[in-house]
Amino acid sequence: MIDLQSLSELIEFRRTVKPIDALGAPNYSSREVDLATIERLLNNANWAPTHGLTEPWRFTVYQGESLSALAEFLRQAYSAYTPEEAFKEAKRDKMAAYAEHTQVAIVLGMQRHPGKIPAEEEVMAVACAVQNLHLSAAAEGLGGFWSTAPVYDIPAVRTEFGFSGDDDRCLGIFYLGFPRHDWPARKKGAPQPIEDKIIWR
Ligand SMILES: Cc1cc2nc3c(=O)[nH]c(=O)nc-3n(C[C@H](O)[C@H](O)[C@H](O)COP(=O)(O)O)c2cc1C
Repeated sequence: MIDLQSLSELIEFRRTVKPIDALGAPNYSSREVDLATIERLLNNANWAPTHGLTEPWRFTVYQGESLSALAEFLRQAYSAYTPEEAFKEAKRDKMAAYAEHTQVAIVLGMQRHPGKIPAEEEVMAVACAVQNLHLSAAAEGLGGFWSTAPVYDIPAVRTEFGFSGDDDRCLGIFYLGFPRHDWPARKKGAPQPIEDKIIWR
């Protein structure tokens, strides 16, 4: 049995650490994340709860040399599919820079099982899998960052990532690396009190 105290500590310890900071400086060290670790984290993701046991989570993993191809693909995809009025050069560059400065990028897919479970619930199950992944990463001393952007889920883009079914979705990219600096504190401190978010009946 796992004790609740240790689990609570891990939950509080988990942090978002992006591959680069607001000024574009690297946040991850050059320490490699080995294949066995990535597999272990993904195996933990695979144990997420799932309505109807559809296991809708899918992962496309980039590491090593494939990361520069991902960066270039993101740069081109953002340019090609972002409406002119929303296009921001800085946003395009940042998107590519995340992929350039990470140790691992895991593209997050939802593969829909037609007619069985509402799509919304399949998305929720993927989010549970991502939380398993992020908590497991933290337990290994790894920072993680769930990046979301509309362009990831454009059909041509998600197809390139391997999620090509009509009802499939790309729910983001999860970046992973060992932090170069001290483990960060949560932005704005602790969450707002849980008491304010509960209705007791
Ligand atoms: C579904 C989801 C999507 C997110 N997308 C982004 C994002 O696109 N950009 C970003 O800066 N942070 C994103 N985040 C991370 C939040 O910024 C982060 O969780 C928050 O700052 C709290 O920090 P913590 O994860 O260290 O507790 C996302 C988080 C979740 C759960």
